Amino acid sequence: MEPPVRRPFIAGNWKMNLSRDESVALAEGIVEQLGEASCDVAVAPPSLYLDAVSQAISGSSVGLSAQNMYHEGNGAYTGEISATMLLDVGCKYVILGHSERRHILGECDKAVNQKTLAALAAGLIPIICVGETLEEREAGKTQSVVQQQCEDSLAGLTNEQMAGVVIAYEPVWAIGTGKVATPDQAEEVHADLRRLLESRYNSEVASAVRIQYGGSVKPDNAGELLSQPNIDGALVGGAALKVDSFLGIIAAAK
Ligand code: PGA
Repeated sequence: MEPPVRRPFIAGNWKMNLSRDESVALAEGIVEQLGEASCDVAVAPPSLYLDAVSQAISGSSVGLSAQNMYHEGNGAYTGEISATMLLDVGCKYVILGHSERRHILGECDKAVNQKTLAALAAGLIPIICVGETLEEREAGKTQSVVQQQCEDSLAGLTNEQMAGVVIAYEPVWAIGTGKVATPDQAEEVHADLRRLLESRYNSEVASAVRIQYGGSVKPDNAGELLSQPNIDGALVGGAALKVDSFLGIIAAAK
């Protein structure tokens, strides 16, 4: 049997950038110039602008993603946003466990796991971020760190749920630094992750899960990264803030 073809997935994580007007203009620019993309495309604006961006991309093939959520359905959780609220404004995806949330905001694997289960139960597609720090890489711990993050963040998922999850491998030392992982470095980790999925789930799940690379992806390095057999897309920060560079990365995925 032929393995399923994984459709590439390029997502732009706008982080805590842009004003409301700039967010809408960027979304409109992407929609206008995207044409027929041969990959899935999503944008993740600041949560306050999800609604406005949702309207700007309405009727297009661009999907909406949140950058975070809380695992409870509703209640006294000041400042938090639930999966249902994200669905309400048109989200299809939610980024969970981004390294900035793990390292700056103290989010642990258990919290990422609770959010993942809640997102899936609500019908959102989670994009689960994992990645090692420079110190961990230099100590030869990349594989064990990334595998542990995956196992703990993805605990308790059924095979069917797992097949619909997106994993983003984002080495912390490559995020926002301009220091991109080489295609070989990235491919090595992606291939390890796929082997892990095969041993924890099965070969169908392992060949269905899309694993994005993230960390200083730009139009000029995207082609080589995306041509690696186990790199199925990109989670893009800085270069997703301009129509041209984001579309340049999408073009490289074709
Ligand atoms: P970067 O960010 O492309 O600016 O390195 C990637 C990310 O944090 O997802």
